[in-house]
Amino acid sequence: MTLHGTADGLARLKERLDEAVHAAEARATAKQHAKGRLTARERIERLLDAGTFVELDALAKGSLVYGDGVVTGHGTIHGRRVCVFAQDFTVAGGSLGEVYGQKICKVMDLAVRNGCPIIGINEGAGARIQEGVVSLGMYGEIFRRNIRASGVIPQISLVMGACAGGHVYSPALTDFTIMVDSSSHMFVTGPDVIKTVTGEDVTFEELGGGRVHNSRSGVAHYLAHDEDDALDYTRALLSYLPDNNLDEPPHPVFEADLEPSAGDLALDELVPDSPNQPYDMHDVIAALLDDGEFLEVQALFAPNIVVGFGRIEGRPVGVVANQPMRMAGTLDIDASEKAARFVRTCDAFSVPVLTLVDVPGFLPGTDQEWNGIIRRGAKLLYAYGEATVPLVTVITRKAYGGAYDVMGSKHLGADVNLAWSSAQIAVMGAQGAVNILHRKRLAAADDPGALRAELIREYEETLATPYLAAERGYVDAVIRPSETRREVTLALRLLRGKRDALPPKKHGNIPL
Ligand code: HXC
Repeated sequence: MTLHGTADGLARLKERLDEAVHAAEARATAKQHAKGRLTARERIERLLDAGTFVELDALAKGSLVYGDGVVTGHGTIHGRRVCVFAQDFTVAGGSLGEVYGQKICKVMDLAVRNGCPIIGINEGAGARIQEGVVSLGMYGEIFRRNIRASGVIPQISLVMGACAGGHVYSPALTDFTIMVDSSSHMFVTGPDVIKTVTGEDVTFEELGGGRVHNSRSGVAHYLAHDEDDALDYTRALLSYLPDNNLDEPPHPVFEADLEPSAGDLALDELVPDSPNQPYDMHDVIAALLDDGEFLEVQALFAPNIVVGFGRIEGRPVGVVANQPMRMAGTLDIDASEKAARFVRTCDAFSVPVLTLVDVPGFLPGTDQEWNGIIRRGAKLLYAYGEATVPLVTVITRKAYGGAYDVMGSKHLGADVNLAWSSAQIAVMGAQGAVNILHRKRLAAADDPGALRAELIREYEETLATPYLAAERGYVDAVIRPSETRREVTLALRLLRGKRDALPPKKHGNIPL
C-alpha cells in the first residue's frame, strides 16, 4: 500500500468517518437512550423519507470533536427537498460553538439559495461558555439568517429537550415551534438564575415546559406527546406549505362533488336558536375541509380562536375561526396575536385564508385595555388588511362591532364574503343595544320586562340580521349553512387567478 494510493486514502477516510460518525453516534446513543431520547441522527432519519439523508460537514472539526455537536444536511419529506440540522446534546450540552454555528449557517444558506424549507431540531444549553463572544457572534449570524429567510422559505423548529439562553431565539424567529410534552424546555434564564435574582422557586417544567409554552406564553405551536409525534406533525405541516414564497403549495388536482352531503346538511341544524348557546366551530371546519381533515396550530393557546390548515379540492387553505365554545368566541389579546401571526404565515406562503366568524366583540376589561388590546388587537386588522392571498369569509352567527371589521370583512379586502341566514351583523348584541337606545323608555315603563323583550325582538328582526350588509354588498350572498362547502369551493376556484399587490414600500409598520 503506497502512502497516497487509493487504498490508503480509503483507509484514512474510513478512520475519520468512524470517529466522526460511528463512534460519536455510539457515544450519543448510550447517553440519549438512557434518558429516553433519540440521538440527533436518529431524529433526522425519522423525520426524512427513509434513506434520503445526505450529511454535510461530518468531518468539520470544532474545538471539541468532529461535527462540533450538530448534524446538518438535506433529504426529502414526501419526496420534497428539505434542509435540516439537529443538535447533539451529548457534546457539551449541545451548546453552540464556532464550527457548530458555521455548519448551521451553511445549511440555512443552502436552503435559501435553493428555495427549500429548513427544519431545525433543537436541544442545547445556549452559548458555549468556553468559546465566549465567538459563540454569541454565531448566534447573531443564525438569527440574521432566520430573519432574512422569513417569508422566503418555511422554517420549522422542533424543541426536543432543554433549550436555554440563545437556543430559544432561533426557534422564536421561525414560522413554527414544536415541543414535546414533559421533555422539552425553553427558557432565556433558568431556575437557578431566577432564584438568585428574583427569589422565585420554579421548576424547569413550570418555567418553560411544553405545556406552558403551548398554553400560556404562545411561544410554541404544537404540544407533541412524544418525539415521533413531533416529527409526524412536522411532516404534516410541511404538506400544506410551498417550498418557498415563489412556489405554490403542493396539491393533487381533483374536483369535489358539490351536491350537499350528509355533513353539509347537518350544518343547517348546528347553530342553536339562543344566541347565548355555544356550538363547536370545529364541526363547521370539518364539514368544509376535504375528508374533514384539519391540522390545528396552537390548539392550546387562546382557544377562543381556532387556526390551522386543511384542504379544499386538494389545495391547502388556512382556517381562522372564532370558537363560541370558549369565552363565547370573544377576541382578546392572545386570540388577536395568534390569528394575526397565522394570517401572515398563510399570506407569506400563498395559502388562501378561510375565515369563519361568530364573534360577540372584543373582550372587555382593564386587564385587556392595560395590556394593550388596542395595539395588539390592531395586529389582526393589519394582517388581514395587508394580505394579498385569496380571502373568503363566512359569518355563521354573530359579527358584532369592531370584531365584524377585524374578522376578514369585505372592507379590509376579503374577496368573497358569505353570511348564513342565522347571521347577526350589528354594532352590538340586542341586549346591550336596547339598553342604550331605550334606557329612558325602559325606566319609565310599567312592565319593563315585557317592553325589553319586545324591543329586543324588534332589534333582532331589523338590525341584527345579515340583510343590511347584503343590501350594500358587504356580504356577497346570504346562504343556507348546507350550501357553504359548495359556495366556498366555487369562490376558491374563482380566486385561483387572484392578483393583488401592496404599494411599493420598504416594509409596513405593523404595531408590535
Ligand atoms: C458549555 C455546557 C453548557 C454551556 C452545559 N454544558 N451548558 N458546556 N457551555 N453553556 C455542559 C455541562 O458542563 C455538561 O458537561 C453537559 O453540558 C451537560 O450539562 P448538564 O448541566 O449536566 O445537563 P442537564 O442537567 O441536562 O442540564 C441542561 C441545562 C444546563 C439545563 C441546559 O446545562 C444549563 O442550564 N446550562 C447552562 C445554560 C446557560 O446558562 N447557557 C448560557 C446562556 S447565555 P459534562 O462534560 O459534565 O457532560 C446565551 C447567550 C446567547 O446563550 C444569547 C443570544 C441572544
